[in-house]
Amino acid sequence: MHIPSPLSLLFSLLLSRVSAVPTTGVALDQVTNSLTPITSSCTDNNATNRHCWNDGVSILQDFDFTNPITRKTVTYNLDITNTTCNPDGHGEIECLLVNGQYPGPTLRANWGDYIIINVQNSLQDNGLPGLTECPLAPVHSRTYAFNVTQFGSSWYHSSQYGSGVVGTIVFEGPAMGDFEGDLGVYEVGGWDYGGAWGENALAAEALLGFGAPPNPDNVLINGTNKVTIAKGKTYRLRLISIALDNYIRVRLDNHKMLIIAADFVPIKPTTAEWILLGAGQRYDVVITANQPAASYWFRAEVATECLSGNNFYGRAVWTYSTVQPSTPSSSPFPDPSTCLEPSPLTPFWYQPVPYQPALGTMNVDLTKAVVTPDGSNMVVWALNRSIDVDWMYPTMTYLLNGSITDQNLDTYPFPENLNVVPATSEQRWNYWLIQQSENASLGEPAVLEQIVYPIPLHGHDFYVLGQGTNETFSGSSQLNFNTPTRRDTASLYGNGGLAIAFESNNPGPWLMHCHIAWHISEGLGMQFLESPSQVTLPDRSAYEQECSAWDEYYATAFYKKTDSAL
Ligand SMILES: *[C@@H]1O[C@H](CO)[C@@H](O)[C@H](O)[C@H]1NC(C)=O
Ligand SMILES: *[C@@H]1O[C@H](CO)[C@@H](O)[C@H](O)[C@H]1NC(C)=O
Ligand SMILES: *[C@@H]1O[C@H](CO)[C@@H](O)[C@H](O)[C@H]1NC(C)=O
Ligand SMILES: *[C@@H]1O[C@H](CO)[C@@H](O)[C@H](O)[C@H]1NC(C)=O
Ligand SMILES: *[C@@H]1O[C@H](CO)[C@@H](O)[C@H](O)[C@H]1NC(C)=O
Ligand SMILES: *[C@@H]1O[C@H](CO)[C@@H](O)[C@H](O)[C@H]1NC(C)=O
Ligand SMILES: *[C@@H]1O[C@H](CO)[C@@H](O)[C@H](O)[C@H]1NC(C)=O
Ligand SMILES: *[C@@H]1O[C@H](CO)[C@@H](O)[C@H](O)[C@H]1NC(C)=O
Repeated sequence: MHIPSPLSLLFSLLLSRVSAVPTTGVALDQVTNSLTPITSSCTDNNATNRHCWNDGVSILQDFDFTNPITRKTVTYNLDITNTTCNPDGHGEIECLLVNGQYPGPTLRANWGDYIIINVQNSLQDNGLPGLTECPLAPVHSRTYAFNVTQFGSSWYHSSQYGSGVVGTIVFEGPAMGDFEGDLGVYEVGGWDYGGAWGENALAAEALLGFGAPPNPDNVLINGTNKVTIAKGKTYRLRLISIALDNYIRVRLDNHKMLIIAADFVPIKPTTAEWILLGAGQRYDVVITANQPAASYWFRAEVATECLSGNNFYGRAVWTYSTVQPSTPSSSPFPDPSTCLEPSPLTPFWYQPVPYQPALGTMNVDLTKAVVTPDGSNMVVWALNRSIDVDWMYPTMTYLLNGSITDQNLDTYPFPENLNVVPATSEQRWNYWLIQQSENASLGEPAVLEQIVYPIPLHGHDFYVLGQGTNETFSGSSQLNFNTPTRRDTASLYGNGGLAIAFESNNPGPWLMHCHIAWHISEGLGMQFLESPSQVTLPDRSAYEQECSAWDEYYATAFYKKTDSAL
């Protein structure tokens, strides 16, 4: 059975906002491992100076406030075709590929560039989705263009990414750690011999009986299972999870990793023996080749502690350049035996979150935002109301036809299935408590509440005020408001809560969901709509043409929509 699969790409990043430029700050001194003041004359981004970018711009600039403007345009053409692939040699299966390769090409640009991505849908039958655009009908194309306002490592994908429509992104910029070589992206993810459509159908079926989805068959590491490093050198590695549902733990035997960024956000460097990645999470790390010259295992294994399962594990061989690659005899760092993200992940940029006393004492049954007297928004999301977007009437249609304004946002009668929650006005804060509620679905076995969910938010980094396993937050005193972890994808642990905050500073309709591929149609998705009057609207006639092309195509299409395919 094929799940209809509309096409549109999601880019995990923010669009631009510009205000004040900070003038002082500190950087990590790699020699003394202490923070030292950054001087203003930052011209060279070199091996001993990675916190510098150019033209006086450095890691001091929080990209929430400012970004350089290079006036350079970078263009990519992505053609999505229906073909077959065989990434681990097990056998050819049906795949949807970007430019004929799995994963698709890495999109590269510098901080401050303007990037244009022309996407051609060369599929015969397909189509995405329902928030900012109509689905892209077959044999049509669409251009995504935006300023590169953040730097770091990321990815792009469509809802069909399990079938191959996925690739990585590198936006060059300053970094929190020095390194001599950049090994580039290193993505990890599961692979299904039955193809992702088969997997999705089986998962949906299993869930009707509250069963677990089938295990993927393999864990793939970047399609390159051999890496060569030179003794004494330092390397940056960009770890990116493109998994459909598994939590994957990675380790390089004998070599600790220095984490310098979590998602796009530079952090105070912290050493780790292992890194746990949920779907969509990224970690930039620095590895020092300071061990005896030999071959070492790089391990990518599903984290059973997060209730992830897989029929196999991923392995790569890392070899020092002075010896021949051989089967490593190295042993792993010990298993942590818990399902926890690496910590501490303290953002380099100082940003306290305004204290919100009411958070944590709210009733988790709430499904609508509550506006506090200071103008903040509070939302409690019990994860049990499903989004079912209308592909023909994306939220953007309501913005284009002027039916929603900042004034009527709180009272607008959105169709319930769109699951729209208004965000607060600009420069005010939104506080969300996401709670795995016990017995959310009647008859649900307790084990389901132990599942761990990676939760990404589009359009914003957010601050992680609290994360707990087997607990419901009982008050703001349990939460951290003092420069907490900031990122765009964080884990909701088993039977626990995830408390996040973000400032309204990027008008638009934004999706918040569980990144496990089949969860969005099971209720783990919602969208919040921020400052409708200030949203940059698309060109109306081009937008309407795309929508009618989809309408025309869909009228006679073989595969019909069964869920939001986000
Ligand atoms: C990096 O740039 C700084 C500042 O221009 C310079 O002092 C340093 O020698 C350079 N380091 C290398 C390895 O080129
Ligand atoms: C891809 O091609 C196969 C074999 O021709 C066909 O069954 C399938 O419907 C196609 N899928 C899409 C999304 O076009
Ligand atoms: C990109 O940045 C330039 C320069 O600031 C600005 O003029 C332009 O409107 C921006 N484009 C988009 C799509 O944000
Ligand atoms: C992963 O694959 C990409 C694309 O082929 C390549 O650029 C990158 O260097 C590889 N990463 C490593 C660590 O080998
Ligand atoms: C969601 O869960 C809450 C708390 O268990 C319950 O009150 C509410 O009725 C549920 N809503 C739906 C749509 O199932
Ligand atoms: C705007 O579009 C939505 C979705 O099609 C529709 O429900 C609404 O009535 C429209 N409003 C106006 C003023 O046309
Ligand atoms: C959930 O269901 C179990 C079994 O019926 C019951 O013992 C428990 O009290 C329920 N929990 C809540 C929060 O309603
Ligand atoms: C959470 O509770 C479950 C069920 O009681 C238990 O198996 C699990 O070990 C607990 N997890 C943690 C981290 O305490």
